[in-house]
Amino acid sequence: MRKKLFSEPLGKDEIFRKLREYSIDDADPLSGRLFTIAFETGLDELKNIAYEAFRAFMDKNMLDFTEFPSAIRMEKDIVDVAISLMNGDEHVVGTYTFGGTESVFLAVKAARDKFILDKGFITLPEIVMPVTGHPCYDKAAEYMGLRVKRVKVDNETYRVDVDSVNEAITENTALIVGSAPNWPFGTIDPIKELAEIALEKNMWLHVDACVGGFILPFMKKLGEDIPDYDFRIEGVSSISLDPHKYAYSAIGSSVILFRREFYKMFSQYANLKWPGYPIVNPAVLSSRSEGPLAAAWAVLHFLGEKGYIELAKKVIAARNRVCRRLGEIGYSIMGDPTVIVAFTSDKVNLFRLSDEMIKKGWYFLAQRGISEMGIPPSIHLTLTPIHENIVDNMLKDLEECTSELQKIPPSDVEGVIESLGLIMSLITPREMDIPTLSKLMKDAEKYLEVYGPKLLEAFGLDKGLPREMTLINQVFNSLPPSITELLVNYIVIQLYKRGV
Ligand SMILES: Cc1ncc(COP(=O)(O)O)c(C=O)c1O
Repeated sequence: MRKKLFSEPLGKDEIFRKLREYSIDDADPLSGRLFTIAFETGLDELKNIAYEAFRAFMDKNMLDFTEFPSAIRMEKDIVDVAISLMNGDEHVVGTYTFGGTESVFLAVKAARDKFILDKGFITLPEIVMPVTGHPCYDKAAEYMGLRVKRVKVDNETYRVDVDSVNEAITENTALIVGSAPNWPFGTIDPIKELAEIALEKNMWLHVDACVGGFILPFMKKLGEDIPDYDFRIEGVSSISLDPHKYAYSAIGSSVILFRREFYKMFSQYANLKWPGYPIVNPAVLSSRSEGPLAAAWAVLHFLGEKGYIELAKKVIAARNRVCRRLGEIGYSIMGDPTVIVAFTSDKVNLFRLSDEMIKKGWYFLAQRGISEMGIPPSIHLTLTPIHENIVDNMLKDLEECTSELQKIPPSDVEGVIESLGLIMSLITPREMDIPTLSKLMKDAEKYLEVYGPKLLEAFGLDKGLPREMTLINQVFNSLPPSITELLVNYIVIQLYKRGV
């Protein structure tokens, strides 16, 4: 049923009662039970300072920094801190954005525009990146008319295979990407070697330090063996790093840095073609609350280098305990983890493991893997300071779930799904050309109208979000990505339309 605006205003108590009701089955990001996308320290004082700063600047709009010069002052401080962490020189400049994706959009736009202008004519520019690169590059490519070539990673180290990068480069390559670290496995790509290629071929190299930028420098200070990945390497053109990850700031906080001032020119947007006020947007969005900016400024200053080093110690301690125990339980750690640990198993169904752990209140990310590239399904754990005191409880439950699951033989359904998936992937092209995609979308509209509701029912999605995701994960993982992408888009449109 569609809602209309209430004719009578609601009182404050009623509003908050309803909001509590809406969030009744949300995971609690402050509980320490999420090993997913919550970056928590467990420090109440830090939280309160961030809330207060957010609230104090919430109503100010970064759009017009002439009305609110605090936007420039806070942004300059945050960008300066980011530059010093990434060892940039006086030529490096940057922009505050609302997230890693937005920072990456600006890097891709700058690289694309520089590439086209250097070339002097339009082609379809390409991004060459490891298969472990975040999908925000594909998203940027889709929005801005580029093509992404994902190349394999080494199956032991889960770092990009440099020979494959070299092979994938053509005269249309505008940009190479490496991660420090990547999201699926938390491993750091060999940025030095990528930079050599970039320098030799005169190409843009973007380092995605969205995850690592605000923690790797402190881990290195603590003696961790972290390979170089920042502006000290000649050939690195831009770096993204997110305060809303390991700087522990409010969500809506990232920084993009450019090695040269003029690179930023390609990322900004100015418009004086209309009869209104002059538009100059340093980032993608136009109107933006100063709330997240102020929260980031406050948190960085509240912690300082000392605070970040103490928190990095906690992450290292949690990671080491997790890695040791996972090995003892019988899981294989993938690559050399930093702040993210990924593990795999050929004895346990990891999708079921993830479901069983949610029943015990622990949130993991189940990852599909890519069988053609020899990457098995895995579980991803993001480790943050709050986990230091909690991981032992989690590991106890994990051990219990593992021994339970080892007793359960694979079901017939699993075998059927796997075989069907194999057949589907043999008959479906991995990459669609425009005529194939056009036919697929026309057919999809027709078939989803008839069979879509049945599909939702079969997955239990007609009644909202299911508690167990094993079946859905298994079906999706066995289908070719182009088909799964279509189905998940359909499902999400339906969930938001119907509500849960
Ligand atoms: C390596 C990496 N890059 C970029 C992003 C995108 O960041 P955001 O979700 O803030 O847009 C992520 C998100 O997890 C990431 O892990």
